[in-house]
Amino acid sequence: MAEVPKDFSARYREILGEELLEELLKFVFLPLRRSLRVNTLKISVDRLRSLLEKEGFSLKPIPWCPAGFWVEGDSSPGKLLYHNMGLYYIQDASSMAPPELLGPRPGEFVLDMAAAPGGKSTHLAALMEGRGILVVNEPLLYRAKVLVGNLERMGVRNSALSVLRGNTFGWRFPNFFDRVLLDAPCSAEGSTRKDESFFKKYWNLSYIRRAQNVQKSLIVSAIHSLKPGGTLVYSTCTMTPEENEAILTYALEAFPSQIEVEEASLKGLRAMAGVEEFEGTRFHPEVRKILRIWPFLNDTEAFTIFKIKKVRETLPASVRRGRTPRGRVLGREVDKDLRRKLEEFFRPYGAGEFFRETRLFLSGDHIWVHTEDFSRLFERAVFNRVGVKAVRVYSSGQMRPTHAFLMAFPHLFREVAWEVDEETAHRFAYGENLPAPEGSPEYVPIFFKGHPLGWGKRNEKVLLNKIPTPLVLR
Ligand SMILES: C[S@@+](CC[C@H](N)C(=O)[O-])C[C@H]1O[C@@H](n2cnc3c(N)ncnc32)[C@H](O)[C@@H]1O
Repeated sequence: MAEVPKDFSARYREILGEELLEELLKFVFLPLRRSLRVNTLKISVDRLRSLLEKEGFSLKPIPWCPAGFWVEGDSSPGKLLYHNMGLYYIQDASSMAPPELLGPRPGEFVLDMAAAPGGKSTHLAALMEGRGILVVNEPLLYRAKVLVGNLERMGVRNSALSVLRGNTFGWRFPNFFDRVLLDAPCSAEGSTRKDESFFKKYWNLSYIRRAQNVQKSLIVSAIHSLKPGGTLVYSTCTMTPEENEAILTYALEAFPSQIEVEEASLKGLRAMAGVEEFEGTRFHPEVRKILRIWPFLNDTEAFTIFKIKKVRETLPASVRRGRTPRGRVLGREVDKDLRRKLEEFFRPYGAGEFFRETRLFLSGDHIWVHTEDFSRLFERAVFNRVGVKAVRVYSSGQMRPTHAFLMAFPHLFREVAWEVDEETAHRFAYGENLPAPEGSPEYVPIFFKGHPLGWGKRNEKVLLNKIPTPLVLR
């Protein structure tokens, strides 16, 4: 068994006292209880529950998240086809709390400032029911790619991805968003339950101080980017007061009359209050409203969360200095001629009308579907992916619908889909080609239990497997 550093124990002895420190230490390396969140963009909670129960899993509701369940069973739910089909997201029960506390509503402008790998972004998208605009930001490109994979798998339609430093949002979008989630990069003490070597590899006080500096600049930016009346949820999967109470204190000192800390609670979620003093530093009295989700309270990872309301406009320094941000539209609107060709191509699927009525952009050789008007974003930042990458148009004029399109708009293809049995579904998910059904169109949507698995492309008597290589099961 790995050891806990003495400094770690000493810090939490000061906060918790001897008895609760013992509790904490019992949980530090205890394997995590498995849990998942149903993707309500694709399937109802009851239907998913019955599908998983048929596979031998037993599901127990997580009280603070209506779509969340603890899962017990012999194998991992991550190995099922349903996972690849985006019907659920495997994540710790504690990380379902920040999106639930933020509570975004359909139609709002929402920012997820530190988004990869996307557990919380896909949760926010589900709470928004596919309506409104969800900006997902992740500055590290390799992590942004994983985020895109998850957004596509879960069928999110209304997101715009940027790869910016979070601290530029306040200046780019002052007083703009209805809600902001800042799930900040942190020292991640909560992850000891996933990685026994955590302390050896990552834990040190200088890292905590560096993380704190980034968090300070991010929270200032997050507050500037909120509109008056808007809500910010700040969360970390760490327990250090430097990255939680000190950050809230810093924000309250920077914005004494512009923000208020809200009482936060979720049904069935046990939490302790924030720490008012640590190692001789006294924090702002409002830190008592912080939710400290210690691992021993709900048998989860550690999480620390607070909620702020912005009550007055703020003026970021760079706006005061007259710096104006630049943005760019991703591609150009599709012209009449191309729109007509798309309509023709998709008419046999019954989806011609969709292409007549939806906002479509051409960027490179791909058509992007915008179910929302993203133009207010384009004035102030560059976005790398907006809406759903739907169709590839080759210079020869040929077209190829993408996997992401099928995952985000399954209803367009349900009527013409080939619903396969379990054995065929497995073969297809593992990358096999299938025999082409008589008279099928060039691209055949393959469905299992009413949900898409991927496209098959007819090549004489064979349907070539068009599931993107990284998503093929192995
Ligand atoms: C705790 S993780 C986010 C987890 C994510 N919200 C989820 O639920 O899947 C923090 C993320 O912040 C990103 N990050 C690091 N520095 C950043 C910065 N300056 N601005 C925005 N994000 C940053 C990291 O790359 C990391 O992906």
